[in-house]
Amino acid sequence: MGRLDGKVAIVTGSAQGIGAAYALGMAREGARIVVADLLDGQSTVAAVQAAGSKAIFIKTDVTDQAQCDAMAKAAKDRFGAVDILLNNAAIFGSIVMKPFMEYSAAEFMKVLEVNVLGQFQCMKAVFPYMKNKGGKIINVGSSSINEGVPGMPHYVASKGAIMALTRSMAREMGDFKINVNTIAPGFTHSDGGNNFDKNKQMDIPPLEELQLNARCIKREAVPEDLIGVALFLATDDSAFITGQMIVHDGGLSFH
Ligand SMILES: NC(=O)c1ccc[n+]([C@@H]2O[C@H](COP(=O)([O-])OP(=O)(O)OC[C@H]3O[C@@H](n4cnc5c(N)ncnc54)[C@H](O)[C@@H]3O)[C@@H](O)[C@H]2O)c1
Repeated sequence: MGRLDGKVAIVTGSAQGIGAAYALGMAREGARIVVADLLDGQSTVAAVQAAGSKAIFIKTDVTDQAQCDAMAKAAKDRFGAVDILLNNAAIFGSIVMKPFMEYSAAEFMKVLEVNVLGQFQCMKAVFPYMKNKGGKIINVGSSSINEGVPGMPHYVASKGAIMALTRSMAREMGDFKINVNTIAPGFTHSDGGNNFDKNKQMDIPPLEELQLNARCIKREAVPEDLIGVALFLATDDSAFITGQMIVHDGGLSFH
């Protein structure tokens, strides 16, 4: 018996990286998965199938409400319900860290558009299917909002907004039996995370070195480290928890 048997989960940004790990982790607990991403998600679909569950890939740009609505409708049409939304898609791995004075308004706003508006639009898209049925929304934040990581002010601001957005949405969605929470990882080896220290354009020590030395648990984080907390928030083990942010960064920061 899997903890998510019979459930349907949409995982955005799951063509690669941490999103793919979330999709696989949920599939191993029995969930059927909608892989939603700008990139081709067929490799995640294949991994889910190899794990014994079902998945479909729906190409989705989360900045487009119509595409988010089509993603939610596809989940309902193919699998009959939308029980879980894991709002993971973001501009992250493509960020080139640089001093704040070098960021243009357009660069700043693009990150807010994808990372904040994108999650909001996905929540709007799933709401009609989750309403009064016990839905679980898990928004991916970042522990960078506790530390104030330099070189990516737009990203850190976007993840701060996710914590606040989660609180606001939890207030409205509680009346409709939907839990909304934020998970906040620290620096994690992912397709995106691995680019940072290679590409940065500012003179700071490697992000990973900085974080690793400051953690209580002094080891590297990998996507598999992040799955457990997402599963907890996707099941009824967390039925009375909403509006919260759970930091899981090896004890780098406390919240
Ligand atoms: N890796 C880390 O160190 C770390 C730490 C804290 C939080 N996070 C968060 O975890 C999540 C996953 O991170 P990751 O390391 O796997 O990042 P990543 O950059 O490797 O992957 C992000 C995914 O989102 C997709 N995406 C980007 N824009 C999109 C759009 N407009 N519509 C749909 N999909 C889009 C990308 O195609 C990609 O598959 C992100 O929300 C990130 O901010 C990552």
